[in-house]
Amino acid sequence: MVSKELETAINKQINAEFWSAYLYLSMSAHFANKGLPGFANWFNVQFREEQDHALKLMNYLISKGNRVELTPIEKVETKWNSVLHAFEDTLDHECVVTSLINNLVSLSRKENDYATENMLQWFVSEQVEEEETAQGMIDSLKLIGDNGFGLYTMDKELAQRSYVPLANEQA
Ligand code: FEO
Repeated sequence: MVSKELETAINKQINAEFWSAYLYLSMSAHFANKGLPGFANWFNVQFREEQDHALKLMNYLISKGNRVELTPIEKVETKWNSVLHAFEDTLDHECVVTSLINNLVSLSRKENDYATENMLQWFVSEQVEEEETAQGMIDSLKLIGDNGFGLYTMDKELAQRSYVPLANEQA
């Protein structure tokens, strides 16, 4: 089992991952409404990945014989002025998630809980990727500026992103 303190902290992280999923689903709906199906698709894949993150943490607690406690998900934004603004919010949010993961790693180290620390390393690597991806999108969107054709082309490109279940990705 993991300690009660760590169990509570991981349950909080499960909520944070579901909040992330909710945020990206909201972005997906917003851009679908705005006639940008590729951006909507990209955020929909992001939504599904965040649910996988929550499930990974839930499954870990269960495998250790701990309690999973699902708590209410706070409301999220529903509108963005531009795709650039949405990706800026994405980057800001992922930086917050990185610090939450780092806090969990610190706690598991403090408790000499090596199994939990090992499980969390996957999230440490994932956060590097999450921040890099969001920054890359921001860079591309800044290059595009207010060029409508550029945005149209990027939308077509993002329509290609497909969801890969975490179980398949990791084997
Ligand atoms: Fe689950 Fe985007 O971090």
